[in-house]
Amino acid sequence: MTDDNKKIPNPEDDPKVTQPGDGGIPNELPHHSSFIQKHAILERKATLLLVASFAVVTIGGLVEIAPLFWLENTIEEVEGVRPYSPLELAGRDIYLREGCYVCHSQMIRPMRDEVERYGHYSLAAESMFDHPFQWGSKRTGPDLARVGGRYSDAWHVDHFIDPQTVVPESVMPKYDYLLRTPLDGAHIDEVMETHSIVGVPYTEEMIAEAKADFRVQVDPFGDIDGLLERYPGAQVRNFDGQDQLTEMDALIAYLQMLGTLVDFSTFTADASR
Ligand code: HEC
Repeated sequence: MTDDNKKIPNPEDDPKVTQPGDGGIPNELPHHSSFIQKHAILERKATLLLVASFAVVTIGGLVEIAPLFWLENTIEEVEGVRPYSPLELAGRDIYLREGCYVCHSQMIRPMRDEVERYGHYSLAAESMFDHPFQWGSKRTGPDLARVGGRYSDAWHVDHFIDPQTVVPESVMPKYDYLLRTPLDGAHIDEVMETHSIVGVPYTEEMIAEAKADFRVQVDPFGDIDGLLERYPGAQVRNFDGQDQLTEMDALIAYLQMLGTLVDFSTFTADASR
């Protein structure tokens, strides 16, 4: 027993341990560890600590932010990404108005579980024409960044009319009124002009043709050549299956486009940029 007790070191015998009576702060560090002792000054003087923290944050901030001002471009250019067509843009506005972003994200992170579930991770370029961006911050429902083409238009119509008939355990609200709300795109050219102010490269031609393109996208028998030239890859059809052009058409046109613009069979990430 007594032998065992001797093996337990007595802190008072340890030259590296300061004792309350030694004058300093009791600790287990060498007396002569002066750098750490100086830190005690910071810890005891609130103002000094604030000033020093500010200095550290400033340096860190500069290191992170300053290079961005000299980089030519932080967004990799990717083939296929284009400004939204007038109908898609109107659908996007409905997406914002209805607060879909509260429950849905539009950003696939480069992690295995996400990539296996949703597809290729999102590229910065894919949201470069989003003002404001729709990355979202919460996923009550699934990520929608690549929902385009995953379901038929009819599936979307049924799902919006009553999500629970399609997915019984769904907590998504009904959006059946979209099917009854006509949309005429009366101000779509002005919306596009506004987007061009913040940097979306809508040309004068695109804005001049906006109202026509808006209608042509739901009319498979219309003159779609101009539309396709201006918005390559735009899908043209009657999205909600009704004669009338409604908010449902616009929202489904937008969803069916999401994630379809970049051809990932030909895309290779360029890590050198
Ligand atoms: C209260 C949260 C909530 C809101 C608001 C919401 N959703 Fe959903 N959404 C869900 C949930 C949960 C699911 C998964 C179950 C289902 O498919 O209904 C879902 C599924 C979906 C799907 C199918 C996705 C997939 O990959 O299976 C689409 C498309 C969709 N929502 C679009 C929308 C749109 C567009 C809006 C806005 C008009 C919207 N949602 C608003 C919760 C929400």
